[in-house]
Amino acid sequence: MASMDTVTAPAAAPPLTAAAAAHLIEAKITAITPVARDTNVYTLQRADGAALPAYKPGAHIDLHLPNGLIRQFSLAAPNGDPQSYRVGVKRDENSRGGSRYIVEQMKVGDAIKISAPRNTFPLVADADHVVLFAGGIGITPIWCMVQELKTLGRSFKLYYACRSRADMAFVEELEKFDLNLRHLHFDDTAGGVLDMAAAVAEIPAGAHLYCCGPNPMLKAFEAATASRPRNLVHVEYFTPKDEAAAAGEAKLGGFWVELARSGEEYFIPEGKKILEVLYEAGVDVDYSCELGICGACETKIISGIPEHHDSVLSEEEQATNEKVMICCCGCKTERLVLDM
Ligand code: FES
Repeated sequence: MASMDTVTAPAAAPPLTAAAAAHLIEAKITAITPVARDTNVYTLQRADGAALPAYKPGAHIDLHLPNGLIRQFSLAAPNGDPQSYRVGVKRDENSRGGSRYIVEQMKVGDAIKISAPRNTFPLVADADHVVLFAGGIGITPIWCMVQELKTLGRSFKLYYACRSRADMAFVEELEKFDLNLRHLHFDDTAGGVLDMAAAVAEIPAGAHLYCCGPNPMLKAFEAATASRPRNLVHVEYFTPKDEAAAAGEAKLGGFWVELARSGEEYFIPEGKKILEVLYEAGVDVDYSCELGICGACETKIISGIPEHHDSVLSEEEQATNEKVMICCCGCKTERLVLDM
């Protein structure tokens, strides 16, 4: 999740449950580095100077902002330095107070609470060949992967598209890369967006493909890769791909939820989310984005058929009905029994 702060992002989140809040890390901003127009990389360290939890490329963390918002940002550097995390933040023109607040208000030395890393976009680092597609601030997790693959000496190629050169993060470093390793695309000088179908058509069968960027790019990527084996295609959304869910129009309630471990039952009324009902009842639930894109509320299913509206699980994972994001799912059966 390169950076999630669009019109669909919740304006403010209810307080975390005590158990969830206890897992947060007290951190501080130790450096701010401009890397493109309206885009900075923020270096975060623990306030007590201790090491941070390890992670792999593709991971993201939650930033709990002093203004009450919770936003998710991908980690931009491989975990060679467990003393710090680096996240890229672009001031979104549709910001609801997350990225705008960070870029305009936050400064070196500011305290901030963060979550431990979570990874819904893991890199298969031992693949024979990896092709990475990034659009705009979607470069953040992809850049982490690029550095890891370079360090490991693996075969890869990066496609990175932005509106213009001024919007491209890490551009000076990327331009030094061998031309076989990178294709940089600027919409303004190219006269349009990257031709995803043409780019994907050149990629050998068997390569692992990754994409993170704005929704139109991700949809073009999914269309261009539709005939490839699903286990080779990896996508990370930072706004919901389900437009009905994003607009709050998905039918979510009208069924019972049973918590298998406690035996408690809750009716989820029309217009309510499972997450909301459980939270209001005082159940210890973990959550972050409330939009089905971060994976924080993933819950195992014991029985029942959910109606998935998340952007985290692949279609194959959704079809197994083994787990579900309770912040945005409905239910096709009268009852959903959850492993909690
Ligand atoms: S809270 Fe982010 S996926 Fe549910």
